[in-house]
Amino acid sequence: MLGRLNHVAIAVPDIEAAARTYRDSLGATVTAPVDVPEHGVKVVFVELANTKIELLEPLGDASPIQGFLDKNTGGGMHHLCYEVDDIIAARDRLTAEGARVLGSGEPKTGAHGKPVLFLHPKDFSGTLIELEQA
Ligand code: CO
Repeated sequence: MLGRLNHVAIAVPDIEAAARTYRDSLGATVTAPVDVPEHGVKVVFVELANTKIELLEPLGDASPIQGFLDKNTGGGMHHLCYEVDDIIAARDRLTAEGARVLGSGEPKTGAHGKPVLFLHPKDFSGTLIELEQA
């Protein structure tokens, strides 16, 4: 069921500063910032040969990453995103095994324009998991 690691997401208080670090200090290819209001985040992708790093800054008053940044003021690893072939089949299998899907339980459109779901960190070794239909 589990495919490639699509990205590792890092929540940051200042996305321009974080993007500069990846671009100028680490020499990585960094995309322009994009607002994703339906997820309450501003996003930059750092493109690596084998995966991506997703830098996330809160967008708006009700950003789902604000609480995380309140606890981790300098930023920190926020979630891992794994690819799946069929997100509904993956969700149904996981919920049948007792895993909790965050929100309504229905996929939303993610930063890549593909359906995504988030799974409760308590069910996955303390790590928030995003599934993206590849
Ligand atoms: Co993500």
